Amino acid sequence: MDIKFSGSAVPKSGSLALTVAGGPELGSLGTQIDEQTDGQLSRAMAATKFEAKRDATLQLVAPVGTKLDRILLVGLGKVEELGAYDLEKIGGSFAGGSARNATGRVAVAVDDHDGFEMGAGRAAALLASGAKLRTYKFDKYKSKKKNDDKQLKSMTVLTKSTAAARRAFAPLSNIADGVHLARDLVNEPANVLYPAEFAKRMRALSKLGVKVEILTEKDMEKLKMHALLGVGQGSARDSRTVVMQWLGGKKGEKPVAFIGKGVTFDTGGISIKPGAGMGDMKGDMGGAACVAGLMHALAARKARANVIGVIGLAENMPDAAAQRPGDIVRSMSGQTIEILNTDAEGRLLLADVLWYTQNRFKPKFMINLATLTGAILVALGKEFAGIFANDDDLAAQLTEAGEATGELVWRMPLSSGYDKLIDTPNADVKNVGGRWAGACTAAQFLQRFVNDVPWTHIDVAGTAMDSPKNEISQSWASGFGVRLLNHLMAEHYEK
Ligand code: BES
Ligand code: MN
Ligand code: ZN
Repeated sequence: MDIKFSGSAVPKSGSLALTVAGGPELGSLGTQIDEQTDGQLSRAMAATKFEAKRDATLQLVAPVGTKLDRILLVGLGKVEELGAYDLEKIGGSFAGGSARNATGRVAVAVDDHDGFEMGAGRAAALLASGAKLRTYKFDKYKSKKKNDDKQLKSMTVLTKSTAAARRAFAPLSNIADGVHLARDLVNEPANVLYPAEFAKRMRALSKLGVKVEILTEKDMEKLKMHALLGVGQGSARDSRTVVMQWLGGKKGEKPVAFIGKGVTFDTGGISIKPGAGMGDMKGDMGGAACVAGLMHALAARKARANVIGVIGLAENMPDAAAQRPGDIVRSMSGQTIEILNTDAEGRLLLADVLWYTQNRFKPKFMINLATLTGAILVALGKEFAGIFANDDDLAAQLTEAGEATGELVWRMPLSSGYDKLIDTPNADVKNVGGRWAGACTAAQFLQRFVNDVPWTHIDVAGTAMDSPKNEISQSWASGFGVRLLNHLMAEHYEK
């Protein structure tokens, strides 16, 4: 969708949406139109007792005294209570709902309302950001595009603060592009997006100044990453690890690191999954997709921070060459792992990628994202991602970032009691912890491969894919985590 910003003048034709502050209070453009139309707006608002509460709308068709087809009044509620995410949701609802009846082109006016703390320019930019996120579609494999005429094609945001709006929109647009990259990767089917193809797509980030390295199976064998390699050994598609570096911070300053699980398809391996719903496992690379989208967002908006993104890519298939339940592998860390269920593969892959990242980059902190367990869905559903942290500050920063962006996270426990459940007589650790607390024992397993560095594991099995539709996402793949971690960086780790 095409998004433009333009000055606050009454358009000559088409549809116009006017934001109205709670009360109702028309802003300056609204007042101007009201006068020009002999008070039609005030009369319509009075006649319908329109108070401009949040999400309330009122439509006037072919208002006399203008050449407009429609004027849509969009309630903002109490403007002093509007946060950034609220405005994105308003923009999204608008782009998805009322605007669709227009001719594909629509103007939205964000007036200078009293008490608008962030200012009309920034508010206009946020509204546009919500609209951009909302209109994402994954329809590349549809021969006939459905509903094409109802799709909003262009949106002009009218504001007196055009310059401020454009300035504020540039990074928001970069972030939305990152979200869309993550969504595209997760939505893509596994016959198209296998490890080498995923890695190849990461090369494109070098255009933004990201340094991209791809480790092949040979490279990983040299590094002794046998836990990761074991996951992919039953697949006809070779595994990869991709290392991405965005060095926008001070030279020599310790980087932060983001790590993603990229299982491009998870059949379960020899411990094969039941058939129903298995197609969803094309999204088992949601953690890696988030890291990719985040690197895109940070590089495109030239974040002033040193950031490492590392993703482990493998396909988990049953095969004559596949690993078996009972196999014992030696991970890069030297610890041996007894594999009692080949479907608990994400943690195996991450064990090596976490170890590799902390040793090579000595990061300030490590955050990994993974569609790791069905158990996190049982615990938290699709509302919250689960976070497991060895550091209270990082957990608190993530929780706050979740509230600000609507990508909610809930802290779950790590403890020595859970850790005991993954001991085994046959090796240093086993890859399953038994029937109970499956999300916690999975996190505990990862922690065995984390040394003395602040670390958080985000289990996104419930939030990255098969996502409920909302104001700013209509996509099966939500792109969860990109906005969350972008916010974390912007708030705490850039200067
Ligand atoms: N990729 C799955 C977890 C998953 C489940 C993601 C549902 C998204 C939706 C993971 O590899 C897996 O299979 N985990 C097992 C672990 C078990 C064998 C200990 C699970 O959760 O059942
Ligand atoms: Mn699995
Ligand atoms: Zn998996």
